[in-house]
Amino acid sequence: MTKAVILGTGSCLPERTLTNADLEQMVETSDEWITSRTGIRNRRIAGKNEQNYQLATRAARRALAVTGVDAEELDLIIVATISSHMIMPSTACFVQAELGAVNAFAYDINAACAGFTYGLDLASNYIQNRPDMKILLIGAETLSARVNWEDRNTCVLFGDGAGAVILTGSNDGRGVFGSSLHADGKLWNLLCMDSPESLNPELRRDDWQGAHIRMNGVDIFKHAVRLMEDAVTSLLRKHDLTINDIGLMIPHQANIRILKNLKERLGLPEDKIFINLSQYGNTSAASIPIALDEAHRLGRLVRGDIVLLCTFGGGLTWGSLLMRW
Ligand code: UT7
Repeated sequence: MTKAVILGTGSCLPERTLTNADLEQMVETSDEWITSRTGIRNRRIAGKNEQNYQLATRAARRALAVTGVDAEELDLIIVATISSHMIMPSTACFVQAELGAVNAFAYDINAACAGFTYGLDLASNYIQNRPDMKILLIGAETLSARVNWEDRNTCVLFGDGAGAVILTGSNDGRGVFGSSLHADGKLWNLLCMDSPESLNPELRRDDWQGAHIRMNGVDIFKHAVRLMEDAVTSLLRKHDLTINDIGLMIPHQANIRILKNLKERLGLPEDKIFINLSQYGNTSAASIPIALDEAHRLGRLVRGDIVLLCTFGGGLTWGSLLMRW
């Protein structure tokens, strides 16, 4: 049966690094608090010529270069993001124009931090219907534009960046073979970000609090650990696999304590989880593709191994996905 395989990966991080010491000058916090509570030491912050679509395009160019695929061969571009520089057109349309991917249709998806994993499931379904399709899937964020830099509860957590993969169909046993995706919209207000204020007075909301990220960290933490564990164990069970069959788990990079908790609950050995959170912080939809690219370049992804993704974000949205690399 045809499955969607990742032909190649690429990523792009902004040049500027914001350290915990820098944050100590901006809000009442400390390197010790941030490191011990989150595991984050640095995050990259976009500057001039590092708009969301520009980071996305650079990540895509790197993925195209390593695969040898021409931009004109692409049939579809999907960008998972919650921080595009314009609401319309989509970031994917900007990327399409920048790359000259004239044969691709293009759109964005919003599943918050779970966006890339949702997008991989989507791309996999397209490819099962049309195995010759070449799909560029990107996770790209410039959350620095959406963070309240006076709120120490959130501003220490997030960073900017983009990661990209090129997918097509394959019959050699590799590729995406399972996913378990979920949402619970009733819990939307645990992690949210408003649009700009309404220009229609009738639609203006009394509860509008500014177009920046707001979060109930403690509740998010509890839900994240439990729901990701459930999504992973049910998916493994469905495919008659155990955690010992996993070659590498690449989780959404949000908080080291969430990841340690999850790893322990799943019984996953230390060397089977990829973590780069300390350097980039939480880059939302970009975190998994950036980690995938880094893991790939470090030789941590072995052909034929089972790779497990798991993710969690605003919505709430969460899930897990399995592929044979
Ligand atoms: O993609 C999913 C996105 N979000 C997440 O994954 C976030 C999940 N949650 C978390 O990572 C953690 O809940 C946080 C790292 C956000 C917070 O850690 P915590 O251990 O849950 O701390 P807390 O919210 O219970 O706050 C403890 C104290 C509070 O002070 P008081 O009320 O006890 O006096 C906070 O005001 O820490 C204070 N605090 C800070 N102190 C120094 C909150 N942020 C900071 C800060 N620096 N940056």
